[in-house]
Amino acid sequence: MITIALTKGRILKDTLPLLAAADIVPEENIAESRKLVFSTNHDDVQLLVLRGIDVLTYIRYGAADLGVVGKDMLMEDGGDELYELHDLAIARCRLMTARQTQQVERSAQSRLKVATKYVNIAQRFYAEKGIQADIIKLYGGMELAPIMNLADEIVDIVDTGKTLVANGLEPVDFIADISSRLVVNKASMKVKYDQLKSLTDLIASAVGDN
Ligand code: PRP
Repeated sequence: MITIALTKGRILKDTLPLLAAADIVPEENIAESRKLVFSTNHDDVQLLVLRGIDVLTYIRYGAADLGVVGKDMLMEDGGDELYELHDLAIARCRLMTARQTQQVERSAQSRLKVATKYVNIAQRFYAEKGIQADIIKLYGGMELAPIMNLADEIVDIVDTGKTLVANGLEPVDFIADISSRLVVNKASMKVKYDQLKSLTDLIASAVGDN
């Protein structure tokens, strides 16, 4: 059995055509189901639908062989147990810092409060800039934090930029370009090499066609 862990939400929508190009088609409509595991048109391939950060955990422990996950998650919580195989060029966005539009510049004296779900990325980014920052972990809705004075800045992904504008924020620093990646468990790649190699080659060759 090959188990593929998919990231739910906007990544999932763009992943299904790539899987279809590799002739992997779920047996029911994932978008309309509350199930978390799906059989496919192949008896030996199943799909899991998870949050990105959990996709990495399933692959790390070998509970999934293969997965599709945002580069942001890999930057935050990558690891030695998995290989990043291909850039799938889907769900493109940018990882940015942002702050309130009318706010004055960063003060060199005081510590900055930064709200984010990307704690490790934020710690690295501000440390490299020599800025003393206290990182506050949130799980979503980061844009609210500056409005409510919980934080001075946020680190979050920006796609259209509409969420920032709607909450009176503006992007400040570019951290990284983000897109979804095909990731494999290292041990699975050894044990199931032939199956996984042909499957991942087919997915990779569909990139850019969809
Ligand atoms: C993401 C991100 C921003 C928004 C950016 O949230 O956290 O809030 O999308 O998109 P935009 O630039 O096009 O407005 P998402 O909707 O994925 O939900 P989340 O807060 O659960 O991460």
